[in-house]
Amino acid sequence: MAGGPSIDVAFTATELARTQVAVVVDVLRASSTLVAALAAGYERLLCVDSIEAAWGLRSPGRTLAGERGCRRIEGFDLGNSPGEIAPVPGGELVLCTTNGTPAIVAAAARADQVLVGSLLNLEALAAAIPRGVDVTVVCAGTDGRFALEDAYAAGRIVALLAGARSDAALAAERLAGAYGSPLIPLAESADAAVLRSTGLEADISCCAQESVLPAVPVVQSVRDGIAVLHDSVHEGGGAVDVGADAVAGTLTH
Ligand code: MLT
Repeated sequence: MAGGPSIDVAFTATELARTQVAVVVDVLRASSTLVAALAAGYERLLCVDSIEAAWGLRSPGRTLAGERGCRRIEGFDLGNSPGEIAPVPGGELVLCTTNGTPAIVAAAARADQVLVGSLLNLEALAAAIPRGVDVTVVCAGTDGRFALEDAYAAGRIVALLAGARSDAALAAERLAGAYGSPLIPLAESADAAVLRSTGLEADISCCAQESVLPAVPVVQSVRDGIAVLHDSVHEGGGAVDVGADAVAGTLTH
């Protein structure tokens, strides 16, 4: 693709090649939880790629959250449910998940800037993505494989961006256009089946809400398997105006 910005999609995290901006999505549920955490008042998010790294970060003022097999990691304060995040006056959330947080850490090594996307922050995300640069939407996927809900969200994000589409971006956009409502692909996905089987069904409709939160996590630094994120507004990101409900941070669960 010659000239102008390019828009690409990596359907699994390992496909990500060098890019200017990476937008990592793990709709069910890590990226939704990170967006909810910033909207709830956490000042910083620490994404880690191992349980050991999360334990190493334990200290007062930090909340440990994460999952294995969708269930809360033993000894952690929280699981990986966006609806579980209560309002807080600052502090740091350490999040350790199977696919989502490792994908964020890995993307930080291959992109100049890494943002976190979900359906919850769709409009705010589109406003925060820099214009005129190459963007790759990175699907965290599930255990190295394609995940329907991530591909759907990738297509929704691509549809909001200007630039020459790769074949993967065209496919994601078409896939997203085939669904009348976000709840359909989320509920049909294999990851939703696991959430149902672990009693976490409410997270599916929670994560299917669109443009209800204004927060856009952006990676500030990465070292030793730990990515530190804060809200893109701290970086002078694009103006965010997504309506009264979103500004109030309304998340139904
Ligand atoms: C992950 O990172 O694999 C997911 O967010 C799993 C989950 O739904 O907890």
